[in-house]
Amino acid sequence: MKILVVGTGAREHAIVHALAAESAEGAAPAHELHAAPGNPGMASQAALHPVDANDGRAVAALARTLGVDLVVVGPEAPLVAGVADAVREAGIPVFGPSAEAARLEGSKAFAKDVMAAAAVPTAMAHVCTTVEQVADALDAFGAPYVVKDDGLAAGKGVVVTSDRDAALAHAREALGARGDDGPSTPEVSSLRSGDSRGPRKVVVVEEYLDGPEVSLFCLCDGATVVPMVPAQDFKRVGDDDAGPNTGGMGAYTPLDWAPTDLVAEVVDRIAQPTVDEMARRGTPFSGVLYVGLALTSRGTRVVEFNARFGDPEIQAVLARLRTPLSGVLLAAATGRLDGIEPLRWSDDAVVNVVVASEGYPESPRKGDPITGIDDAEALDGVHVLHAGTAVVDGALVSAGGRVLSVVGRGADLTAARAASYAGVEKIALDGSHHRSDIALKAERGEVAVP
Ligand code: AMP
Ligand code: GLY
Repeated sequence: MKILVVGTGAREHAIVHALAAESAEGAAPAHELHAAPGNPGMASQAALHPVDANDGRAVAALARTLGVDLVVVGPEAPLVAGVADAVREAGIPVFGPSAEAARLEGSKAFAKDVMAAAAVPTAMAHVCTTVEQVADALDAFGAPYVVKDDGLAAGKGVVVTSDRDAALAHAREALGARGDDGPSTPEVSSLRSGDSRGPRKVVVVEEYLDGPEVSLFCLCDGATVVPMVPAQDFKRVGDDDAGPNTGGMGAYTPLDWAPTDLVAEVVDRIAQPTVDEMARRGTPFSGVLYVGLALTSRGTRVVEFNARFGDPEIQAVLARLRTPLSGVLLAAATGRLDGIEPLRWSDDAVVNVVVASEGYPESPRKGDPITGIDDAEALDGVHVLHAGTAVVDGALVSAGGRVLSVVGRGADLTAARAASYAGVEKIALDGSHHRSDIALKAERGEVAVP
Protein backbone atom coordinates (compact mmCIF):
# COMPACT_ATOMS: atom_id res chain seq x y z
CA MET A 1 0.00 0.00 0.00
CA LYS A 2 0.89 3.64 -0.43
CA ILE A 3 0.35 5.34 2.92
CA LEU A 4 0.71 8.98 4.01
CA VAL A 5 1.22 9.61 7.74
CA VAL A 6 0.43 13.15 8.94
CA GLY A 7 2.30 14.62 11.92
CA THR A 8 5.76 15.15 13.36
CA GLY A 9 5.94 13.30 16.66
CA ALA A 10 7.11 10.02 18.13
CA ARG A 11 3.55 8.70 17.77
CA GLU A 12 3.73 9.22 14.02
CA HIS A 13 7.25 7.80 13.92
CA ALA A 14 5.93 4.72 15.77
CA ILE A 15 3.22 4.31 13.11
CA VAL A 16 5.77 4.66 10.29
CA HIS A 17 8.10 2.26 12.12
CA ALA A 18 5.33 -0.35 12.49
CA LEU A 19 4.27 -0.02 8.85
CA ALA A 20 7.89 -0.35 7.69
CA ALA A 21 8.46 -3.36 9.98
CA GLU A 22 5.42 -5.12 8.46
CA SER A 23 7.09 -5.39 5.10
CA ALA A 24 10.51 -6.09 6.61
CA GLU A 25 9.01 -9.08 8.42
CA GLY A 26 7.32 -10.27 5.24
CA ALA A 27 3.87 -9.94 6.81
CA ALA A 28 2.81 -7.78 3.89
CA PRO A 29 4.22 -6.63 0.57
CA ALA A 30 6.47 -3.57 1.01
CA HIS A 31 4.57 -0.37 1.53
CA GLU A 32 5.44 2.95 -0.02
CA LEU A 33 5.49 5.30 2.96
CA HIS A 34 5.17 9.07 3.01
CA ALA A 35 5.03 11.56 5.88
CA ALA A 36 3.79 15.15 6.06
CA PRO A 37 5.84 16.81 7.34
CA GLY A 38 7.34 13.93 9.38
CA ASN A 39 10.58 14.13 11.34
CA PRO A 40 14.24 13.25 10.75
CA GLY A 41 13.84 9.84 12.37
CA MET A 42 11.37 8.76 9.70
CA ALA A 43 13.54 9.79 6.78
CA SER A 44 15.02 6.33 6.29
CA GLN A 45 11.57 4.71 6.15
CA ALA A 46 9.34 7.31 4.50
CA ALA A 47 9.56 10.15 2.00
CA LEU A 48 9.13 13.45 3.86
CA HIS A 49 6.98 16.23 2.39
CA PRO A 50 7.18 19.78 3.77
CA VAL A 51 3.43 20.22 4.14
CA ASP A 52 1.72 21.81 7.14
CA ALA A 53 -0.04 19.00 9.04
CA ASN A 54 -2.87 21.36 10.01
CA ASP A 55 -3.64 22.46 6.45
CA GLY A 56 -6.38 20.12 5.22
CA ARG A 57 -6.34 21.33 1.61
CA ALA A 58 -2.57 20.93 1.37
CA VAL A 59 -2.65 17.45 2.92
CA ALA A 60 -5.50 16.34 0.63
CA ALA A 61 -3.70 17.76 -2.41
CA LEU A 62 -0.52 15.90 -1.46
CA ALA A 63 -2.44 12.67 -0.93
CA ARG A 64 -4.07 13.04 -4.35
CA THR A 65 -0.78 13.85 -6.09
CA LEU A 66 0.92 10.85 -4.49
CA GLY A 67 -2.08 8.62 -5.21
CA VAL A 68 -2.04 7.12 -1.72
CA ASP A 69 -4.39 4.34 -0.63
CA LEU A 70 -4.63 5.59 2.95
CA VAL A 71 -3.91 8.71 4.99
CA VAL A 72 -3.26 8.34 8.73
CA VAL A 73 -3.70 11.53 10.74
CA GLY A 74 -1.66 11.29 13.94
CA PRO A 75 -2.13 14.35 16.20
CA GLU A 76 -5.23 16.03 17.57
CA ALA A 77 -4.67 19.52 16.15
CA PRO A 78 -5.13 18.54 12.48
CA LEU A 79 -8.14 16.39 13.40
CA VAL A 80 -9.85 19.24 15.23
CA ALA A 81 -8.92 21.49 12.27
CA GLY A 82 -10.74 19.16 9.84
CA VAL A 83 -7.80 17.60 8.01
CA ALA A 84 -9.49 14.17 7.94
CA ASP A 85 -12.62 15.80 6.48
CA ALA A 86 -10.61 17.38 3.66
CA VAL A 87 -8.97 14.05 2.79
CA ARG A 88 -12.27 12.18 2.99
CA GLU A 89 -13.90 14.76 0.70
CA ALA A 90 -11.12 14.09 -1.79
CA GLY A 91 -12.31 10.48 -1.86
CA ILE A 92 -9.25 9.03 -0.15
CA PRO A 93 -9.60 6.63 2.81
CA VAL A 94 -8.43 8.33 5.99
CA PHE A 95 -7.77 7.00 9.48
CA GLY A 96 -8.95 9.71 11.85
CA PRO A 97 -12.25 11.29 12.87
CA SER A 98 -14.01 14.28 11.34
CA ALA A 99 -13.64 17.64 13.05
CA GLU A 100 -17.16 17.22 14.46
CA ALA A 101 -16.32 13.81 15.95
CA ALA A 102 -12.89 15.00 17.17
CA ARG A 103 -14.72 17.37 19.51
CA LEU A 104 -14.76 14.38 21.89
CA GLU A 105 -11.18 15.50 22.50
CA GLY A 106 -11.36 19.14 21.42
CA SER A 107 -13.96 20.10 24.02
CA LYS A 108 -14.08 18.52 27.46
CA ALA A 109 -17.58 19.95 27.98
CA PHE A 110 -18.78 18.31 24.75
CA ALA A 111 -17.22 15.00 25.84
CA LYS A 112 -19.03 15.23 29.18
CA ASP A 113 -22.29 15.83 27.35
CA VAL A 114 -21.81 12.77 25.13
CA MET A 115 -20.84 10.65 28.15
CA ALA A 116 -23.97 11.76 30.02
CA ALA A 117 -26.16 10.88 27.03
CA ALA A 118 -24.49 7.48 26.65
CA ALA A 119 -24.51 6.73 30.42
CA VAL A 120 -20.73 6.35 30.41
CA PRO A 121 -19.19 6.34 33.89
CA THR A 122 -16.99 9.41 34.40
CA ALA A 123 -16.08 11.94 37.08
CA MET A 124 -18.92 14.20 38.17
CA ALA A 125 -18.30 17.61 36.68
CA HIS A 126 -19.47 21.20 36.62
CA VAL A 127 -19.06 23.17 33.41
CA CYS A 128 -18.25 26.75 34.47
CA THR A 129 -18.01 30.04 32.63
CA THR A 130 -17.20 32.31 35.59
CA VAL A 131 -14.67 32.22 38.39
CA GLU A 132 -17.57 32.43 40.84
CA GLN A 133 -19.05 29.20 39.47
CA VAL A 134 -15.64 27.60 39.69
CA ALA A 135 -15.31 28.56 43.34
CA ASP A 136 -18.73 27.05 44.11
CA ALA A 137 -17.83 23.85 42.26
CA LEU A 138 -14.49 23.53 44.08
CA ASP A 139 -16.27 23.83 47.41
CA ALA A 140 -18.95 21.36 46.37
CA PHE A 141 -16.39 18.66 45.53
CA GLY A 142 -13.69 19.50 48.09
CA ALA A 143 -9.96 18.80 47.76
CA PRO A 144 -8.07 17.53 45.84
CA TYR A 145 -9.33 19.93 43.19
CA VAL A 146 -9.41 19.16 39.45
CA VAL A 147 -9.71 22.11 37.04
CA LYS A 148 -9.56 21.65 33.26
CA ASP A 149 -9.33 24.03 30.32
CA ASP A 150 -12.12 23.17 27.93
CA GLY A 151 -9.99 23.14 24.78
CA LEU A 152 -6.86 21.45 23.50
CA ALA A 153 -3.84 22.06 25.71
CA ALA A 154 -1.35 19.30 24.83
CA GLY A 155 -1.95 17.55 28.14
CA LYS A 156 -1.05 20.65 30.10
CA GLY A 157 -4.48 22.28 30.57
CA VAL A 158 -5.34 20.27 33.67
CA VAL A 159 -4.45 21.22 37.22
CA VAL A 160 -4.87 18.73 40.05
CA THR A 161 -4.06 20.35 43.38
CA SER A 162 -5.08 20.58 47.00
CA ASP A 163 -4.32 24.31 46.92
CA ARG A 164 -7.66 26.08 46.40
CA ASP A 165 -5.95 29.33 45.36
CA ALA A 166 -3.90 27.52 42.72
CA ALA A 167 -7.06 25.86 41.40
CA LEU A 168 -8.80 29.23 41.18
CA ALA A 169 -5.77 30.84 39.56
CA HIS A 170 -5.74 28.18 36.83
CA ALA A 171 -9.47 28.70 36.23
CA ARG A 172 -8.99 32.47 36.05
CA GLU A 173 -6.23 32.04 33.48
CA ALA A 174 -8.26 29.56 31.44
CA LEU A 175 -11.29 31.82 31.44
CA GLY A 176 -8.83 34.38 30.13
CA ALA A 177 -9.96 37.54 28.45
CA ARG A 178 -13.60 36.99 29.36
CA GLY A 179 -12.71 37.44 33.02
CA ASP A 180 -15.44 36.42 35.43
CA ASP A 181 -18.31 38.35 33.92
CA GLY A 182 -19.66 35.64 31.60
CA PRO A 183 -23.26 34.49 31.61
CA SER A 184 -24.31 32.56 34.70
CA THR A 185 -25.71 29.50 32.94
CA PRO A 186 -23.25 27.15 31.27
CA GLU A 187 -24.57 26.53 27.78
CA VAL A 188 -23.76 22.88 27.27
CA SER A 189 -26.71 22.66 24.89
CA SER A 190 -25.12 25.28 22.66
CA LEU A 191 -21.85 23.35 22.76
CA ARG A 192 -23.69 20.30 21.52
CA SER A 193 -24.90 21.89 18.32
CA GLY A 194 -22.79 25.01 18.11
CA ASP A 195 -19.12 25.72 17.73
CA SER A 196 -17.00 25.38 20.87
CA ARG A 197 -14.13 27.12 19.13
CA GLY A 198 -15.98 30.44 19.38
CA PRO A 199 -15.17 33.12 21.92
CA ARG A 200 -16.86 31.42 24.89
CA LYS A 201 -14.30 30.23 27.44
CA VAL A 202 -15.28 27.29 29.60
CA VAL A 203 -13.56 25.38 32.38
CA VAL A 204 -14.62 22.04 33.76
CA VAL A 205 -14.31 21.34 37.49
CA GLU A 206 -14.39 17.67 38.37
CA GLU A 207 -14.51 15.37 41.33
CA TYR A 208 -11.10 13.81 42.05
CA LEU A 209 -10.68 10.23 40.85
CA ASP A 210 -8.50 7.99 43.02
CA GLY A 211 -6.78 4.93 41.59
CA PRO A 212 -4.31 4.07 38.81
CA GLU A 213 -4.79 5.37 35.28
CA VAL A 214 -5.03 3.22 32.17
CA SER A 215 -5.07 4.15 28.49
CA LEU A 216 -7.05 1.90 26.16
CA PHE A 217 -7.04 2.65 22.43
CA CYS A 218 -10.20 1.52 20.67
CA LEU A 219 -10.17 1.38 16.88
CA CYS A 220 -13.50 2.54 15.47
CA ASP A 221 -15.09 2.77 12.04
CA GLY A 222 -18.23 4.66 13.00
CA ALA A 223 -20.02 1.53 14.22
CA THR A 224 -17.65 -1.29 15.26
CA VAL A 225 -15.13 -1.07 18.11
CA VAL A 226 -11.89 -3.10 18.18
CA PRO A 227 -9.83 -2.60 21.36
CA MET A 228 -6.04 -2.72 21.47
CA VAL A 229 -4.15 -3.69 24.67
CA PRO A 230 -4.11 -1.38 27.71
CA ALA A 231 -1.05 0.69 28.55
CA GLN A 232 -0.09 3.10 31.31
CA ASP A 233 1.31 6.59 30.85
CA PHE A 234 3.32 8.73 33.29
CA LYS A 235 2.05 12.28 33.02
CA ARG A 236 4.07 14.11 35.66
CA VAL A 237 7.53 15.32 34.80
CA GLY A 238 9.41 13.83 37.76
CA ASP A 239 9.96 10.49 39.49
CA ASP A 240 7.23 9.49 41.95
CA ASP A 241 4.81 11.73 40.04
CA ALA A 242 6.42 14.93 41.21
CA GLY A 243 6.14 18.22 39.33
CA PRO A 244 3.78 19.50 36.66
CA ASN A 245 1.83 17.50 34.07
CA THR A 246 3.49 16.94 30.69
CA GLY A 247 2.44 15.37 27.42
CA GLY A 248 3.67 12.07 28.91
CA MET A 249 7.14 10.97 30.08
CA GLY A 250 6.92 7.24 29.47
CA ALA A 251 4.64 4.23 29.15
CA TYR A 252 4.51 0.47 29.35
CA THR A 253 2.38 -2.52 28.44
CA PRO A 254 1.05 -5.06 29.44
CA LEU A 255 -0.61 -4.16 32.74
CA ASP A 256 -0.49 -7.43 34.66
CA TRP A 257 -2.15 -5.77 37.64
CA ALA A 258 -5.31 -4.72 35.77
CA PRO A 259 -8.52 -6.78 36.10
CA THR A 260 -8.74 -9.43 33.38
CA ASP A 261 -12.17 -8.25 32.25
CA LEU A 262 -11.11 -4.59 31.98
CA VAL A 263 -10.98 -4.44 28.19
CA ALA A 264 -14.37 -6.09 27.77
CA GLU A 265 -15.86 -3.79 30.40
CA VAL A 266 -14.49 -0.68 28.72
CA VAL A 267 -15.77 -1.73 25.30
CA ASP A 268 -19.24 -2.65 26.62
CA ARG A 269 -19.80 0.22 29.02
CA ILE A 270 -17.74 3.03 27.49
CA ALA A 271 -16.41 2.75 23.94
CA GLN A 272 -19.38 1.10 22.22
CA PRO A 273 -22.02 3.33 23.89
CA THR A 274 -19.95 6.41 22.95
CA VAL A 275 -19.57 5.30 19.33
CA ASP A 276 -23.31 4.53 19.20
CA GLU A 277 -24.16 7.96 20.65
CA MET A 278 -21.89 9.72 18.14
CA ALA A 279 -23.57 7.81 15.28
CA ARG A 280 -27.00 8.72 16.67
CA ARG A 281 -25.99 12.40 16.59
CA GLY A 282 -25.06 12.10 12.93
CA THR A 283 -21.33 12.54 13.63
CA PRO A 284 -20.02 8.95 13.50
CA PHE A 285 -16.62 8.44 15.14
CA SER A 286 -13.96 6.67 13.11
CA GLY A 287 -10.28 6.44 13.88
CA VAL A 288 -9.08 5.77 17.39
CA LEU A 289 -11.04 6.55 20.50
CA TYR A 290 -8.45 6.93 23.23
CA VAL A 291 -10.18 6.05 26.48
CA GLY A 292 -8.26 7.48 29.43
CA LEU A 293 -9.46 5.67 32.56
CA ALA A 294 -9.05 5.77 36.28
CA LEU A 295 -9.61 2.46 38.09
CA THR A 296 -11.11 3.95 41.24
CA SER A 297 -12.40 2.54 44.49
CA ARG A 298 -15.88 3.14 43.08
CA GLY A 299 -15.26 1.46 39.75
CA THR A 300 -13.89 2.25 36.31
CA ARG A 301 -14.29 5.91 35.30
CA VAL A 302 -13.39 7.86 32.17
CA VAL A 303 -10.82 10.58 32.87
CA GLU A 304 -10.78 11.83 29.30
CA PHE A 305 -11.41 10.93 25.69
CA ASN A 306 -8.91 11.69 22.99
CA ALA A 307 -9.44 11.31 19.28
CA ARG A 308 -6.01 9.90 18.39
CA PHE A 309 -3.41 7.48 19.70
CA GLY A 310 -1.78 8.44 22.98
CA ASP A 311 1.84 9.50 22.95
CA PRO A 312 3.94 7.92 24.60
CA GLU A 313 1.67 4.86 25.05
CA ILE A 314 1.25 3.92 21.38
CA GLN A 315 5.02 3.60 20.96
CA ALA A 316 4.85 0.74 23.48
CA VAL A 317 1.55 -0.76 22.26
CA LEU A 318 2.58 -0.95 18.60
CA ALA A 319 5.79 -2.76 19.56
CA ARG A 320 3.56 -5.67 20.69
CA LEU A 321 1.12 -5.70 17.74
CA ARG A 322 1.60 -8.71 15.49
CA THR A 323 -1.33 -8.18 13.14
CA PRO A 324 -0.19 -5.97 10.24
CA LEU A 325 -1.15 -2.41 11.20
CA SER A 326 -1.86 -1.26 7.64
CA GLY A 327 -4.83 -3.60 7.18
CA VAL A 328 -6.31 -2.63 10.53
CA LEU A 329 -6.06 1.11 9.86
CA LEU A 330 -7.50 0.68 6.37
CA ALA A 331 -10.41 -1.38 7.75
CA ALA A 332 -11.18 1.39 10.25
CA ALA A 333 -10.95 4.02 7.52
CA THR A 334 -13.31 2.15 5.21
CA GLY A 335 -15.95 0.90 7.67
CA ARG A 336 -14.88 -2.74 7.57
CA LEU A 337 -13.68 -3.37 11.13
CA ASP A 338 -16.40 -5.97 11.71
CA GLY A 339 -14.68 -8.22 9.18
CA ILE A 340 -11.16 -8.29 10.59
CA GLU A 341 -9.54 -11.15 12.48
CA PRO A 342 -9.00 -10.55 16.22
CA LEU A 343 -5.80 -8.58 16.77
CA ARG A 344 -2.76 -10.69 17.66
CA TRP A 345 -0.29 -9.51 20.31
CA SER A 346 3.17 -10.53 21.41
CA ASP A 347 3.48 -11.64 25.05
CA ASP A 348 6.54 -9.43 25.40
CA ALA A 349 6.60 -6.44 27.71
CA VAL A 350 7.51 -3.05 26.28
CA VAL A 351 8.71 0.06 28.12
CA ASN A 352 9.02 3.47 26.48
CA VAL A 353 11.10 6.12 28.22
CA VAL A 354 10.85 9.70 26.94
CA VAL A 355 14.03 11.78 26.80
CA ALA A 356 13.06 15.43 27.24
CA SER A 357 15.05 18.59 26.69
CA GLU A 358 16.27 20.87 29.45
CA GLY A 359 13.46 23.04 30.76
CA TYR A 360 10.57 20.82 29.57
CA PRO A 361 7.66 21.31 30.17
CA GLU A 362 7.92 24.99 31.11
CA SER A 363 10.47 26.26 28.60
CA PRO A 364 12.21 23.56 26.58
CA ARG A 365 15.64 24.48 25.26
CA LYS A 366 16.25 23.77 21.59
CA GLY A 367 19.26 23.33 19.35
CA ASP A 368 21.39 20.93 21.45
CA PRO A 369 23.20 18.15 19.55
CA ILE A 370 21.92 14.60 20.00
CA THR A 371 24.22 11.59 19.70
CA GLY A 372 24.17 7.91 20.58
CA ILE A 373 20.96 6.82 18.83
CA ASP A 374 22.76 4.21 16.71
CA ASP A 375 24.46 2.81 19.83
CA ALA A 376 21.10 2.58 21.55
CA GLU A 377 19.52 0.81 18.59
CA ALA A 378 22.43 -1.64 18.45
CA LEU A 379 21.20 -3.04 21.78
CA ASP A 380 18.93 -6.06 21.78
CA GLY A 381 15.24 -5.14 21.76
CA VAL A 382 15.76 -1.37 21.58
CA HIS A 383 14.53 1.13 19.02
CA VAL A 384 14.47 4.90 19.19
CA LEU A 385 11.68 7.10 17.88
CA HIS A 386 12.08 10.79 17.17
CA ALA A 387 9.77 13.58 18.34
CA GLY A 388 11.37 17.01 18.82
CA THR A 389 14.39 16.62 16.56
CA ALA A 390 15.73 18.55 13.57
CA VAL A 391 18.74 18.35 11.30
CA VAL A 392 20.76 21.56 11.28
CA ASP A 393 23.93 21.75 9.16
CA GLY A 394 23.91 17.98 8.88
CA ALA A 395 23.75 17.40 12.64
CA LEU A 396 20.80 16.07 14.63
CA VAL A 397 19.67 18.57 17.28
CA SER A 398 16.81 18.93 19.74
CA ALA A 399 13.85 20.93 18.47
CA GLY A 400 11.12 20.43 21.05
CA GLY A 401 10.27 19.39 24.59
CA ARG A 402 9.92 15.66 24.22
CA VAL A 403 12.88 14.78 22.02
CA LEU A 404 13.09 10.97 21.77
CA SER A 405 11.17 7.85 22.78
CA VAL A 406 13.47 5.00 23.73
CA VAL A 407 11.50 1.78 23.36
CA GLY A 408 12.76 -1.38 25.03
CA ARG A 409 11.26 -4.82 24.73
CA GLY A 410 11.80 -8.00 26.72
CA ALA A 411 10.19 -11.13 28.08
CA ASP A 412 8.88 -9.25 31.12
CA LEU A 413 8.86 -5.73 32.54
CA THR A 414 12.23 -6.25 34.20
CA ALA A 415 13.85 -7.10 30.87
CA ALA A 416 11.95 -4.38 29.00
CA ARG A 417 12.94 -1.72 31.55
CA ALA A 418 16.55 -2.88 31.43
CA ALA A 419 16.55 -2.61 27.62
CA SER A 420 14.92 0.80 27.53
CA TYR A 421 17.14 2.33 30.21
CA ALA A 422 20.26 0.81 28.64
CA GLY A 423 19.18 2.64 25.47
CA VAL A 424 18.64 5.90 27.34
CA GLU A 425 22.16 5.60 28.78
CA LYS A 426 23.60 5.63 25.25
CA ILE A 427 21.89 8.91 24.32
CA ALA A 428 23.81 12.13 24.83
CA LEU A 429 21.79 15.36 24.86
CA ASP A 430 23.01 18.25 26.95
CA GLY A 431 20.68 19.13 29.83
CA SER A 432 18.18 16.39 28.96
CA HIS A 433 16.09 14.65 31.58
CA HIS A 434 13.95 11.55 31.82
CA ARG A 435 12.06 9.69 34.52
CA SER A 436 13.91 6.78 36.04
CA ASP A 437 10.79 5.03 37.38
CA ILE A 438 8.79 4.19 34.26
CA ALA A 439 7.04 0.84 34.95
CA LEU A 440 9.00 0.44 38.19
CA LYS A 441 6.00 0.04 40.50
CA ALA A 442 4.39 -2.41 38.08
CA GLU A 443 7.63 -4.41 37.92
CA ARG A 444 7.64 -4.58 41.71
CA GLY A 445 3.97 -5.54 41.89
CA GLU A 446 3.11 -2.32 43.71
CA VAL A 447 0.27 -1.10 41.50
CA ALA A 448 -3.19 -1.94 42.83
CA VAL A 449 -6.75 -0.88 42.21
CA PRO A 450 -8.07 0.68 45.46
P1 AMP B 1 -6.81 15.05 30.99
O1 AMP B 1 -6.22 16.10 30.07
O2 AMP B 1 -8.25 15.19 31.23
O3 AMP B 1 -6.36 13.71 30.62
O4 AMP B 1 -6.06 15.20 32.38
C1 AMP B 1 -4.66 15.10 32.48
C2 AMP B 1 -4.29 14.33 33.72
O5 AMP B 1 -4.80 14.99 34.88
C3 AMP B 1 -4.89 12.94 33.78
O6 AMP B 1 -4.13 12.01 33.09
C4 AMP B 1 -4.87 12.69 35.28
O7 AMP B 1 -3.60 12.33 35.72
C5 AMP B 1 -5.21 14.02 35.84
N1 AMP B 1 -6.67 14.09 36.03
C6 AMP B 1 -7.58 14.54 35.15
N2 AMP B 1 -8.83 14.45 35.65
C7 AMP B 1 -8.71 13.95 36.90
C8 AMP B 1 -9.64 13.63 37.95
N3 AMP B 1 -10.96 13.85 37.81
N4 AMP B 1 -9.15 13.12 39.08
C9 AMP B 1 -7.82 12.90 39.24
N5 AMP B 1 -6.90 13.19 38.32
C10 AMP B 1 -7.32 13.71 37.15
N1 GLY C 1 -0.46 10.04 26.66
C1 GLY C 1 -1.15 11.25 26.81
C2 GLY C 1 -1.68 11.79 25.59
O1 GLY C 1 -1.36 11.36 24.49
O2 GLY C 1 -2.50 12.68 25.68
